[in-house]
Parts: sequence; structure tokens; C-alpha cells
Amino acid sequence: MTTPTDFVRDQWYVVASTDEISDIPLARTVCGEHIVLFRQTDGTIVALADRCPHRGYPLSLGAVVGDEIQCGYHGLRFDGCGTCTWVPLQNNIPSRANVETYPLATTGPWIWVWIGDPSAPDPDKLTALPWLDNPDWAEVHGMEPLAARYSLLIDNLLDLSHESFLHAGLIGTPEVALTPIETRVDEDADVVYVERHMESVECPPFYSDTTGLSTPIDRWQDIEYHPVGCYILHSRVAAAGVVPRPDGADPGAAHLTVLYAITPVDEHNTMDFWALARDFAVGDSAIGEYLARMNREVILQDVRALDLLEQRLAAEDDPSEVSLKIDTGALAARRMITRLAEQAQTPMPTR
Ligand code: FES
Ligand SMILES: [Fe+2]
Repeated sequence: MTTPTDFVRDQWYVVASTDEISDIPLARTVCGEHIVLFRQTDGTIVALADRCPHRGYPLSLGAVVGDEIQCGYHGLRFDGCGTCTWVPLQNNIPSRANVETYPLATTGPWIWVWIGDPSAPDPDKLTALPWLDNPDWAEVHGMEPLAARYSLLIDNLLDLSHESFLHAGLIGTPEVALTPIETRVDEDADVVYVERHMESVECPPFYSDTTGLSTPIDRWQDIEYHPVGCYILHSRVAAAGVVPRPDGADPGAAHLTVLYAITPVDEHNTMDFWALARDFAVGDSAIGEYLARMNREVILQDVRALDLLEQRLAAEDDPSEVSLKIDTGALAARRMITRLAEQAQTPMPTR
């Protein structure tokens, strides 16, 4: 099984963050579907197919007029339901001159779009991310575009042993690659868990500069991957030997929830949305800015590696792989994604 490029429909994918949406149309492509997003005067966010039904011009190249979007070619206007409200020089508007709308959902700073049957968005498929809406936690977020297929990012995130090599000096220390992982797969709930608990190890600058901790620390990395586009890394750092209380409370540790939303753009491009939520230094915006800057540096190391892998993969007729123990989580994720793609009710669009 090699890295797949097929998209999985009947899924939610993050399409943008709320701070990106204004009365200037924003064009995004998700699973090959072109979408335009804009904000209406009351703040409502609208997502429409980015294709004017008249001659196919991208609506994102037009303008928002009040609560409507106007095509930049011949001026047709569409409301937030995708209904055409105005055409030049005629009063009767053809009934087919409408645009498909996309169901949206919002979690903290993220806007999710439903890729599938627009009449049947499934709220149960949205993974709860309570850290993004919790005043006891502070978050920073961003997005990096990747010139690589989305499955390469999933492989990358499900095996953090690469931190010791690709991210050495930032978040990687030798112990990450030397500590065994435990992988569990919940086929009923469609979740892959990968856990790594490191004891009495080096404290990388990412944590020593932000938590006040110093070597040695206990460092836990507990991953939950909810295919296709939602990845949660529960990172716990504490002075060596400090453990959670029997009731689960853990006041002696610092917790960073590292979230990734993996959004396929097309067969060779991906949007890598990320958010960091922390329960330490919550009111300290300088710490937030530091974490955001460092995390972006780490992500750009991944981006460079994955972009290069994509170029190599795209040029190879028969790419071969050798899988290892460290790939157990990634292989489970691939199997789950293949099954979800087969189960999806909504077929791929023909155009
Ligand atoms: S293509 Fe949009 S109005 Fe003609
Ligand atoms: Fe990485």
C-alpha cells in the first residue's frame, strides 16, 4: 500500500480560519472543489461554488455587494443561498442560474466545510475540539500550504520519531526516536491512537523557553487521529517524576494541545492548518507569539521535506516503500482512509 491521493467525501475539512473571511471574496479549493467564501453584513459566513453558472467565471474574482456576491464578468448577483437575484437587461431569471452552497461549521478559529451531499451534512462527523473555545486555554493558529499530497502529511504526523532528526534543536531530542510507541485503533469510532511517554529526558527549547521547565522532564505525546482531516496531539510536559493525581487532575504539568486540520486541495497540494492551545501562560501573548513562531519554523521543516517527497513520488512510476514498527499508526490510518473512501455515499463529481 503506497501513499494514496484519492479524496474521501462525506467529510468535514477546514477551509479557512474565521479571521480570513471578510467582505473580500476568498477562493479556496478543497478535494478539487472550488469554493468562494465571504462574510455578509450581519457577520454570517457564506460558502458557494466558485463558478458562475453563466459562463463559468470564478465568482471569487467578483465583489461582495451588501449581502450578495457579484460576478466580475457580466455582473450576475447571488445571495447567501446561491440564488441568482439579478442579471443584466432582463427581469426573468433562469431557474438554473443558481450556485451550489456548502454547509459550514465553526470550531474556535476554524471553519469546516462539508464535502459531500450538501443536503446531508453529518454533525456527528465533526470532532469536538473543546480547547479552542475554552477561556482557560489560549490558542494561536495558522496555515501553511503544502505542495504535496495530503497522505504524506498524515504519515508525517502519525510518526513523531522524525522529530529527533528533521526537527532536531527545536522540538526534537534524541529520546523521541528512542522511546517505543503504543498504537491502538478504534475501528468503530474511526480513531487511531499513538502514544509515547518519555521519562526523565531533555527539555527542548520549545518547552524550556515557554514553561520554565528544565532538563530532566517527563514528556508525553498522545496522538488521536480522526480521519480524514483532524489530528490532535496531547503534549504533556512536567518536571521528571511529577505525575497526574489519581482523580486525573494534573496541576503540576503544562499541557499543549497541538491540532492539525489536514485539508486536501488537489492530488498534489494540501492545506496544513494548525492551532496550538495551551493551559500555561494563558494571559501571556508574548509566549503565544513565541510558540506560533517556533511551531511555524517546525512546520516549514516538514513542508520542505514533504514537498521534496512529492516531487520524487510524482516522478516515480512504481514508488516502493519499506514500512517499520514506527509506521504502525500511519498504516492504520491509511487502511481507515481507504475504508472511509469506499463507504462514502457521495460519488466524486464528474467535472
Ligand atoms: S460569467 Fe458570470 S456573469 Fe457571465
Ligand atoms: Fe514534523
